[in-house]
Amino acid sequence: MTAAFTPLSPFGMEITGASGDQLVHQEAADRCRELLNEHGVMIYRELDIGDDDLVAFTRLLGEPEVAKTSEHRHPEIDTITLDPAKTNAVLAGYRRGNFHWHIDGATIPIPQKATLLTAREVDPAGGDTEFASTFLAYQALPEAEKARLDGLTVVHSFAAAQLRANPTPTDEERAAWNRVPSRTHPLVWTRSNGRKSLLVGATAGEVMELPGQEGQALLERLLDWATQPQFVLRHQWRRGDLVIWDNTGMLHRALPFEPTSRRLMHRTTLVGEEAVA
Ligand code: OGA
Ligand code: MN
Repeated sequence: MTAAFTPLSPFGMEITGASGDQLVHQEAADRCRELLNEHGVMIYRELDIGDDDLVAFTRLLGEPEVAKTSEHRHPEIDTITLDPAKTNAVLAGYRRGNFHWHIDGATIPIPQKATLLTAREVDPAGGDTEFASTFLAYQALPEAEKARLDGLTVVHSFAAAQLRANPTPTDEERAAWNRVPSRTHPLVWTRSNGRKSLLVGATAGEVMELPGQEGQALLERLLDWATQPQFVLRHQWRRGDLVIWDNTGMLHRALPFEPTSRRLMHRTTLVGEEAVA
């Protein structure tokens, strides 16, 4: 079967009629990377890619990260579920943070280049995933606002992100969050090719150059700006879908679903390739 490529709005590319084994070739991976950089999100509908092919394809795209869960026969695969029976219970709790707009790896020096998520089980009642392009959001800012943001830096922390999902943590929970080092990044991420994007989201806690409340108000305003409908793509999952996003320029979040949901994703990530500058 020949795969069909359909550009989505306001960004993204949907591919139908592809199979997992077709992807595990260098040419297919190179084409995917090129389209990913251009379109931000690649949605392979009902691809049903197996774990072996998922890892092989990830390797052809770049350098896979080793997953934190270490509970899969492939060390590169993370289990994404809220169900503590299906994964490490502490990590299942942390996944509630996925309901808030975020960029993966915003607390590390070089955020992950891309995330690959494939649906093993879907929830008919919820759990769509939304993406917001921080490239489009930056571009659309008034020039005076762009000038104001120039030179500002932001502290990103795991604690800031978890606090949104769990506003009344125990002392132990807070201590565990605080063990993850925080990171200060420029608010506007300028790539070596000149492209610019906003680096905001749940991990963004304070603006170094502004008084606390003023900085927080700015970060909330920019997050609201970046997640307006004209910058957002919503994906409704079918079992077997593989979605890949350019994590450096895509805020994303899961829409609500129950903790007891059967929704189950397998995820691989690509090590980052460009430090935030
Ligand atoms: C992730 C993530 C969102 C979802 O795996 O990094 O944010 O919809 N997932 O499961
Ligand atoms: Mn994520």
